[in-house]
Amino acid sequence: MLSYHPPFMNPVRILVPTPSRAYSVTIGGGTLDHIGRVLDEIGAPARRFVVSSPLVWRLHGPQLARAVTLAEPILVPDGERFKQLSTVSRIYDALVRASADRAATIITFGGGVIGDMAGFAAATYLRGIALVHVPTTLLAQVDSAIGGKVGVNHPLGKNLIGAFYQPHAVVIDPLVLGTLPRREFRAGLYEVIKCGMTSSAPLFERVARERTAIFARSVDALMPIISEACRIKGEIVTADEREAGVRRILNFGHTAGHALEAVTKFRRFRHGEAVGYGMLVAAQLAHARGAMAEPDQQALSNLIASLGPLPPIADLSAADILAAMQHDKKIVAGTLHFVLPTAIGATAIVDDVKESELRAALKKVGFAK
Ligand SMILES: NC(=O)c1ccc[n+]([C@@H]2O[C@H](COP(=O)([O-])OP(=O)(O)OC[C@H]3O[C@@H](n4cnc5c(N)ncnc54)[C@H](O)[C@@H]3O)[C@@H](O)[C@H]2O)c1
Ligand SMILES: [Zn+2]
Repeated sequence: MLSYHPPFMNPVRILVPTPSRAYSVTIGGGTLDHIGRVLDEIGAPARRFVVSSPLVWRLHGPQLARAVTLAEPILVPDGERFKQLSTVSRIYDALVRASADRAATIITFGGGVIGDMAGFAAATYLRGIALVHVPTTLLAQVDSAIGGKVGVNHPLGKNLIGAFYQPHAVVIDPLVLGTLPRREFRAGLYEVIKCGMTSSAPLFERVARERTAIFARSVDALMPIISEACRIKGEIVTADEREAGVRRILNFGHTAGHALEAVTKFRRFRHGEAVGYGMLVAAQLAHARGAMAEPDQQALSNLIASLGPLPPIADLSAADILAAMQHDKKIVAGTLHFVLPTAIGATAIVDDVKESELRAALKKVGFAK
């Protein structure tokens, strides 16, 4: 059978010079075939362990294995409910059994769940070994692979256990998105919209303008949006690696979003879909306060609606969502820090949002009493 390998031409390179580590993000159709070159460039230690899920490995593992010499792949399940310490333990077990020492590199090959778990394993095994992220979902390519947040969930809360551990390199090949189910693809697009809303009106407008080509997974359409999202995230985490200031704007849409995921026990929504609703709630709240003009709020609602219907919320009560928000990590010393949009591409962080305002915004977006 003939297989087509697109040329590795003009990949985009973004440097992320965070205080703890500087690394490159290489983005391009066909980069997967040339990952060996990137690994050699950064001097990645020679024993290279891929951590992936059975599905991703079946779909794309052979291509990766042709491109680079790898140890036996470590395959673990990747649903959100497996994002827990016991799965990370299985990664440690495999590393110990293979006598992996400091001269080992972990390559994460999957979505955000694999990246977060295997990244945490890399951060903690022997107090830290080399880590390269090769994200295979849109969400992971535009968001989770950059910035160094790694970790797992606790039965009582999402992402409660983790570390900041920047990767040594990130390699992104938009062609792997060809096999991503449409719903997962859409879920990633909400995070792209988030990035546009907080930091880049041109990115926001590009998604709106090129929606059809983006949905067709055209590499030409995907390259600029992935690159722009990575550039923005790289800049923000470089300025504020540990989320003491500006990085908090990346939580736009996540306060209500996380609450929505928690209330539905992570079963009804993909993370990005919950963020879609979270952005609508934040925009409604901002508009009601006079902080965001009507046309901007409308542009956000229109773009979100244009991607297709989100899972229903009419049976979910605003009171339950409010209660779940009280448990959010973004509450610092009892104060909820809320990211409000002020225009397309601009935000403000406020800490004086009243429960009554939130309740009103939730109802306006469609939640029950
Ligand atoms: N570290 C961070 O900064 C950060 C940021 C955002 C989100 N996250 C985390 O990311 C996770 C969500 O990540 P996700 O949305 O990628 O979900 P995921 O990792 O669960 O992947 C979604 C599904 O897509 C499948 N898949 C992956 N690549 C595929 C491909 N190329 N073709 C076909 N199927 C493929 C997976 O097997 C899985 O079933 C959450 O746990 C969230 O907390 C972390
Ligand atoms: Zn998110």
